[in-house]
Amino acid sequence: MQQGDIRFVKMLVLVNGLTPLALLVWDQSRHRLGANPQNFLILTTGMMTLIFLMLTMAVTPVRKVFGLNWLIQLRRMFGLFAFFYGCLHFLCFYSLDRAFSLSSTLHEIVARQYLWFGITALLAMVPLAITSTNGMIKRLGGKRWRALHRLAYVAAIAGAVHFFMQVKADVRLPLAFAALLAVLLGYRLLDWWRRSKRAPATAAAVKS
Ligand code: HEM
Repeated sequence: MQQGDIRFVKMLVLVNGLTPLALLVWDQSRHRLGANPQNFLILTTGMMTLIFLMLTMAVTPVRKVFGLNWLIQLRRMFGLFAFFYGCLHFLCFYSLDRAFSLSSTLHEIVARQYLWFGITALLAMVPLAITSTNGMIKRLGGKRWRALHRLAYVAAIAGAVHFFMQVKADVRLPLAFAALLAVLLGYRLLDWWRRSKRAPATAAAVKS
């Protein structure tokens, strides 16, 4: 794919990523967020966080299976959108549900197990966002950067568990997210296993 084309695709991702936020702001300004706008804002930003986390996790498997190497150039945007909506989600909870009370927020997080997973997911994304720049990749070195970015798995798994634990009755959607994540992580595990099997064989061939 040409550089101009990838710039266009990135612009599409940017517009699509910001559209849910624009719609939330627009609907909120016209009091059209339903009977419980606070809850609607928390749920929608939570859903956007999870969707972008899944997109981030899907980049490598889809790129390898379909040979779409240019997809790698979108991974940082997906990850940053996940972090952005994750921060908004937390901010909505902190402001609308906990009335900006730090002690009440901490108390609630300690008291509710589904929030342990939510906060774990959000905290796991902090170092990922901080080290997402080209300068940080250079400073850390590829190997250490890749090791640190395994935290993305922690964020995705904890986010999916948080979603599963907070639903009251219908678990179909959380299960669908969990199944998708299992497929994406399963692919990575298989890929790692195949490569680790190949590595000793290559080393033996070089020696002989
Ligand atoms: C990466 C981190 C997180 C992800 C992926 C995430 C995702 C989600 C999702 C998908 C939902 C349900 C949306 C729906 O039903 O449509 C949700 C609900 C919720 N999340 Fe999170 N969340 C995260 C972090 C947090 C954090 C840090 C907090 C607060 C400390 C939090 C508090 C809540 C609350 C209060 C609800 C609504 C529960 C209810 O109304 O029953 N989340 N989250």
